[in-house]
Amino acid sequence: METKIFKKDQIDEAVKLLAEGELVAFPTETVYGLGAIATKEKSVKGVYAAKGRPSDNPLIVTVSDEKMMERYAKEVPERAKKLIKHFWPGPLTLLLFVKPGTLPDAVTGGLDTVAFRCPDDQLTHDLIAKLGYPIVGPSANTSTKPSPTTAEHVYHDLKDKIAGIIDGGPTRVGLESTIIDLSVKTPIVLRPGEITPEELSEVLGEKVLINTGKVADKDVPKAPGMKYRHYAPSEPVVVVDDPADFGKIDFNDKTGVVALGSVLDQINLPEENKFDLGKNLIDADHNLFGALRYFDDKDDIETIYVQGFDEGEESLAYMNRLNKAAGGHHLNK
Ligand code: TXA
Ligand code: MG
Repeated sequence: METKIFKKDQIDEAVKLLAEGELVAFPTETVYGLGAIATKEKSVKGVYAAKGRPSDNPLIVTVSDEKMMERYAKEVPERAKKLIKHFWPGPLTLLLFVKPGTLPDAVTGGLDTVAFRCPDDQLTHDLIAKLGYPIVGPSANTSTKPSPTTAEHVYHDLKDKIAGIIDGGPTRVGLESTIIDLSVKTPIVLRPGEITPEELSEVLGEKVLINTGKVADKDVPKAPGMKYRHYAPSEPVVVVDDPADFGKIDFNDKTGVVALGSVLDQINLPEENKFDLGKNLIDADHNLFGALRYFDDKDDIETIYVQGFDEGEESLAYMNRLNKAAGGHHLNK
């Protein structure tokens, strides 16, 4: 199948393909998603096949608004209403109980919960509203690879495996949405994102837990996606927590370095061995996946050193992705 690239003004063609059960990748404010009509089991299964994703890792259901979500949620608790009012459309995914029989098991991985997301992207909104049905929206990458932040990244991974890609340019945030589980007694952040636990707690007016991946507590649900290797280029990644430690590394032409521009300036390596994350943490969020992909595609690199950040809750999302890419490997730790 030849993958068609659509410009922003060609979404009617994308809607038609989705209605026919085909797969179409779409931009959001976080990363690109791989869309398929969420109510057709065959299409949903096609998403797992195209990504090479394990079938027990459920998919996010992308809706155009709260009203569409209500068709598939068993109930919409007061907490969800508060968060929706404050953060939707936006990079926050809500885990709620699914209304039985409304979505194929392939969407939820057979769980009794489902993850709902309403992206802050007019194009995505129009796409789903015109289709009249939600679309599943996992990140549009090959499973285990960094999530795609440009249409080119999607094309690289899924060319000839999907019917189309809507090119909306580079995504704004660069890291996936915050996921909060509202199906449990105390709300818990399963995956950190741009919206921090503190902001969620403020709007909810109550404590919000953070999943560290280590909690053995029975009340804490599993996020199936968390157990898989993720975001990883083919070369080993090492986290450098203190920028001063870059000075202690024995660089050679097989080393790749990913850091802020101000840090890279101090490092004596050819330009092609460096990837500039930008000026600050927000830029770094935006550029991390692109950096990992850049070195993944270079055959001659053996180790990638990536700058870590310690800026409290603001750096949770970045460090979560980086730690996974590095398999927990830190310099000096
Ligand atoms: O920003 C985002 O959320 C992007 C854009 C495209 O919307 N999507 C995204 O989807 O990151 P994905 O599939 O790559 O990540 C969704 C995560 C997975 O780790 C999955 O295991 C978890 O959400 N998830 C989905 N449904 C779940 C459920 N019912 N219970 C627990 N975890 C769930
Ligand atoms: Mg993903």
